[in-house]
Amino acid sequence: MTAPAPARLVVLISGSGSNLQALLEATADPAYGAVVVAVGADRDGIAGLEHAAAAGIPTFVDSVKAYPSRDDWDAALAAHVAEHRPDLVISAGFLKLVGKQFLDAFGDRYINTHNALLPAFPGIHGPRDALAYGVKVAGATLFFVDAGVDTGPIIAQTVVPVLDDDTEETLTERIKVAERAQLVDCVGRLVREGWTIQDRKVRIP
Ligand code: GRF
Repeated sequence: MTAPAPARLVVLISGSGSNLQALLEATADPAYGAVVVAVGADRDGIAGLEHAAAAGIPTFVDSVKAYPSRDDWDAALAAHVAEHRPDLVISAGFLKLVGKQFLDAFGDRYINTHNALLPAFPGIHGPRDALAYGVKVAGATLFFVDAGVDTGPIIAQTVVPVLDDDTEETLTERIKVAERAQLVDCVGRLVREGWTIQDRKVRIP
């Protein structure tokens, strides 16, 4: 019997790409069941693109300002992702909200990792907002993206303590360690086992 073809992942990034790097390391093992077939970004000159290129993975950049309108950008991004025929599209620190055209194409298989325990602290300053609020635990949430801001059905959450002497930087780093492990574990399970979503409840059989 031949092994099933590995699932095709397209990863979208805006920054250092440490989540991408963790996925690249995991996908090096054929038993993981997935390969990263392309990496897209909304800006040039970021470390994540260099990691991808060093691993021989095709990259593309769609910057919003390169298009006449946000809708045009959204359509172009959707088209570039579609060229790589992904089974799963992963926003790993991608700092852009996609629009209707992208969600029409990939809304059933577009996931995002956020560095807060949703529904608390959506947006781009999760650890800073959590610290300012004075919470005692923080963490990361992996979810299917919908049309809202960090509002989609939750796949998994991972929790870390908030320490009395934490700064935004120390808390962010502690969350990122747990976040990467969660991302790698869940993406592997999603592609190997599939999933269902009913009344917002995501189940991996
Ligand atoms: C992650 O913590 C993600 O939750 C946040 O940005 C970070 C991306 O980190 N939105 P990296 O680029 O994967 O290192």
